[in-house]
Amino acid sequence: MEIVHQLIPIEKIEERVSDIGRRISEDYKGKEIVLIGILKGAVIFLADLMRKIDSNQLTVDFMGLSSYEGGTRSTGVVKITSDLKRSIEGIHVIIVEDIIDTGLTLNFLTQNLALKNPASIEICTLLEKPSNIQKPISVKYKCFEIPDKFVIGYGLDYEGRYRNLPFIGVLEIKED
Ligand code: IMP
Ligand code: MG
Repeated sequence: MEIVHQLIPIEKIEERVSDIGRRISEDYKGKEIVLIGILKGAVIFLADLMRKIDSNQLTVDFMGLSSYEGGTRSTGVVKITSDLKRSIEGIHVIIVEDIIDTGLTLNFLTQNLALKNPASIEICTLLEKPSNIQKPISVKYKCFEIPDKFVIGYGLDYEGRYRNLPFIGVLEIKED
């Protein structure tokens, strides 16, 4: 049986997303930026965030990465399942991610994107589980730090489900 406990209500998410959008608008004034959303978990965060960024120099692109084979634990193996559609050379990149757990996914990705000569690369994440970090990475924009619990909703999934929940919840799985 699966039980969902609310962890972060939508009002709090909206508040933080607006704050971060405002900071990005200031930090990148007059600069060309591309938000790179990591599929599929970051899609809802990205959709809300981009509308809080005041810029006429902003584009979006997506990458598909997989380090999880459907369950709740990282395999440590990162695969690119879908790549960028346009060059990022000379453009300021902000990677938009749903959650940083071990840090393995973003460590791999920032190294990979640096080879494409962007003007800069920063990370913007909705959530971080600080207790699980295996590869330290510098995160410029972060909405929330959370305890080491498996969370779902607002884009995050368990076996592809629960992305549509309008808040962030902790998933409790009871074996029976
Ligand atoms: P990392 O490489 O361990 O940092 O894993 C990051 C990726 O694992 C995220 O992009 C998520 O797709 C997935 N992930 C990690 N923790 C959770 C969670 O609590 N709920 C849902 N997905 C998670
Ligand atoms: Mg992900």
